[in-house]
Amino acid sequence: MSTIANALQSQVGRKILTGLTGIFLTLFLVAHLSGNLSLFIPDGGESFNLYADFLHSLGPLLWIAEIILVILFLTHAYLGVSIYLKKKRARPENYKYYKSQGGPSKQNFASTSMLISGSIILLFVVLHVMHFKYHLFSPETYMVEGTEMVDLARHVSEAFQNPWIVAAYTFVMVLIGVHLKHGVWSAFISLGAKNPKLTPVLYTVGGIVALLLSLGFLAIPLYIFINGGL
Ligand code: HEM
Repeated sequence: MSTIANALQSQVGRKILTGLTGIFLTLFLVAHLSGNLSLFIPDGGESFNLYADFLHSLGPLLWIAEIILVILFLTHAYLGVSIYLKKKRARPENYKYYKSQGGPSKQNFASTSMLISGSIILLFVVLHVMHFKYHLFSPETYMVEGTEMVDLARHVSEAFQNPWIVAAYTFVMVLIGVHLKHGVWSAFISLGAKNPKLTPVLYTVGGIVALLLSLGFLAIPLYIFINGGL
């Protein structure tokens, strides 16, 4: 515990923890997208509901995973803001001229907008969980074999027939791509992968991961909207 407390004191330690939490969050996104892609199976959402039922059947294991996920999200957001503020305090004005040392500059829109994209994504996650997990905005339930439950696939399908929801998801999914484009590469650099040969490879890998996750998530609302449902 004191190792973590020590790490939090230094800017390098904070960067390492931000990178680590970011990588675990990206792995969560890979797992979440893999499950969500079952919405494309043409069975009216049955496979997706079976997958969700399986997750719910894990009971306490799922709660533990969810608690870890919340801790990861909050730690990542807190560290991201604190690194930004510390940098800002050390240099209140941005460089007039920026010249990268060694290799082409990786400073671009994705890298300079991390705080804004991260904040919007965090707000999105809160609303998204309230909507799809806790059904706060549309709490209708259906009777399935005598048990009152939410038909999750139907819930998702109905939500993505609303053009405003689809527009908001499109915006946030693009933003997730922008955040990950810089985030994945930067996480590896923070974890020590700074090497003239490895850096360009990691930069390309980060871009591909960002593009695949962004397009993968984006495909779901667009597919449902264009087809008028599942
Ligand atoms: C089109 C894209 C997406 C769809 C259709 C979708 C769908 C869902 C659904 C149906 C649930 C509830 C699962 C359940 O109750 O078992 C859920 C939970 C969740 N989603 Fe998404 N999701 C999408 C994108 C995202 C993205 C991009 C993020 C993160 C940036 C995200 C983060 C979460 C989180 C944190 C939970 C709660 C997980 C838990 O507590 O078990 N989702 N999502």
